[in-house]
Amino acid sequence: MRSGQHNYNIALFASMIAHLGEEKAEEWMKGLKANLARKPSGNDRAQAQAIYAGECDLGIGNTYYVGLMINNEKEPEQKDWAASMKVLFPNSEDRGTHVNISGMAMAKHAPNRDNALELMRFLGSAEAQSIYAETNYEYPVLPGATVSETVQSFGKIKPDSLPLAEIAKNRKAASEMVDRVGLDDGPAS
Ligand SMILES: [Fe+2]
Repeated sequence: MRSGQHNYNIALFASMIAHLGEEKAEEWMKGLKANLARKPSGNDRAQAQAIYAGECDLGIGNTYYVGLMINNEKEPEQKDWAASMKVLFPNSEDRGTHVNISGMAMAKHAPNRDNALELMRFLGSAEAQSIYAETNYEYPVLPGATVSETVQSFGKIKPDSLPLAEIAKNRKAASEMVDRVGLDDGPAS
């Protein structure tokens, strides 16, 4: 996995705290550390590369990178990384899989409010949602917007419906837990 302090993992760990409570989540994180094949490092794609290289059996990452690797004409070796693995959706039978979001917000004193609002409305439209879904292999937030064929090939996702505010609320506790557990120190040997 990449660093436990990266935003992606902090959000994931915050969701674990929200669902399990701090004590159980910490127990889980200790288990995660014990199962590490190596010290957390690299980005999401580096985890797929590690599976390709036989360094580990499982990695943690966002699915959109799998789409970006599968269709990477510029660096075709990434296609091999993607081909060596398959996407699994944790907790599918239970509360659903943790989902990270791409979001937007307008600053209170934005100087070009009307144009900004127009852009935000466009980005939420069926047209822009489909373009974004096809270009970056993310799940469109707009119901009914087209999901890319690559993403469909991963199978069905059941997203965790935990409110984002719960994740935001638990971010600090998650970050402190990563340090307390020593997750980024890697597996104990
Ligand atoms: Fe990313």
